[in-house]
Amino acid sequence: MLKDIFVSEKQMKEQIEYSEKVKSLLCVRYPDKKPKAFTHTYGCQGNVADGERIRGMLAAMGYDLTNSPENADLVLYNTCAIREHAENRVFGNIGALKKYKKQNPGMVIAICGCMAQQSYVAQKIEKSFPYVDLVFGTHALHRLPELLSKTLCRGKRIIDATESDGVIAEGLPVARDNNTDVFLPIMYGCDNFCSYCVVPLVRGRERSRRPEEIIKEAGDIIAGGARLITLLGQNVNSYGKGSESDTDFSDLIRMLDALPGDFQFDFMTSHPKDCSKKLIDTLAGSKHYCRHLHLPVQCGSDRILKAMNRGYTRAQYLSLIELVKNRMPDISLTTDIIVGFPSETYEEFCQTLSLVEKVRYDSMYTFVFSPRKGTKAYEMEDAVPKSEKMKWFSQLLKLQEKIQKEKQKIKKTTQMGC
Ligand code: SAH
Ligand code: SF4
Ligand code: F3S
Repeated sequence: MLKDIFVSEKQMKEQIEYSEKVKSLLCVRYPDKKPKAFTHTYGCQGNVADGERIRGMLAAMGYDLTNSPENADLVLYNTCAIREHAENRVFGNIGALKKYKKQNPGMVIAICGCMAQQSYVAQKIEKSFPYVDLVFGTHALHRLPELLSKTLCRGKRIIDATESDGVIAEGLPVARDNNTDVFLPIMYGCDNFCSYCVVPLVRGRERSRRPEEIIKEAGDIIAGGARLITLLGQNVNSYGKGSESDTDFSDLIRMLDALPGDFQFDFMTSHPKDCSKKLIDTLAGSKHYCRHLHLPVQCGSDRILKAMNRGYTRAQYLSLIELVKNRMPDISLTTDIIVGFPSETYEEFCQTLSLVEKVRYDSMYTFVFSPRKGTKAYEMEDAVPKSEKMKWFSQLLKLQEKIQKEKQKIKKTTQMGC
């Protein structure tokens, strides 16, 4: 049963055949030139890694990758659904493509990624943007050659937002802009269902790549000149759960750390509820670890943490931070924070401020709560007006600025002392 998550060799071969078919179709369509493809990826590092595979597949199909949509023969947006603002930006940008399609009616326009995986969004694109030729969700990524060949052959629109628990497709070609700072996905999906978050709905169930595939790819990346490898997953701390191998995240890190070469590694994202002492000990003893830990706290109030379904308390988070600082005094800490979760009071928000004062992060990614369709929090009553939440938000930013200034001052004084 576990094997079902891996796309079979036979299916991958079929996609290579489709890729060759697209190549031939393009030769007929563009006898005098190599067609150009423009892609843009929104959202997280995991999506950027997907975008690199999309570009790899397009290059293998015979496209020249270009930096401008204007003269492109194919334009693809790889989208993000994490907040409403991200989605609205994409809708605006799809609207702007209409003029390019008018100038070049043969242009193929494709929309994929997390937005396209939500059927109501796929339907909206189908209805409101008739010049979009191809829409496909995250689970269809490895079938891009097949979908594109059908689009080019039939000249008919294709919409594929098929629901799935998710698969793992190994061996896709990768085209990276940068070979020194490289993203390496180790797992996909998420099973945590934080009540505000759309990711489990658009990325499927948590599933891990085989350790030997990851380590082989890491070796190739290092040989290709990488200086920093960032391991990717929505919750890397639960790497290996439910898989055929006994290797957990700490074991994987040890295997990576044992590789020869002048490189460092980082990882994203670590979930506090699964951050074990074993992992912290492993990190403290790793020679290639870059000494940066991104540990999203989201908020400082126990009641809100519970409503968010985060699985830890404020006290547990703070004692984890203490352990990390004790074992690695030079660690750089970063976090994510959501301001204005439904029913959050000002007093509860002040608990986030006091937690930030205590931890003193090196930097923070801060967001105002955005209701996402299909999540639990979407249904929760939210009485605090946006204008009030924005005030809290700027209070948090001011505090972080103050902390950063103080940290820089201490750094300068220490350097002068040296
Ligand atoms: N898997 C990672 C986070 C992925 S999403 C983790 O659990 O930490 C990145 C960040 O976006 C989250 O940490 C959260 O702070 C923010 N976020 C997610 N959904 C959001 C929403 N509905 N509104 C506002 N911010 C949100
Ligand atoms: Fe979203 Fe929570 Fe999963 Fe992170 S752990 S991707 S915030 S559901
Ligand atoms: Fe966005 Fe999808 Fe990543 S919703 S944050 S691109 S997993």
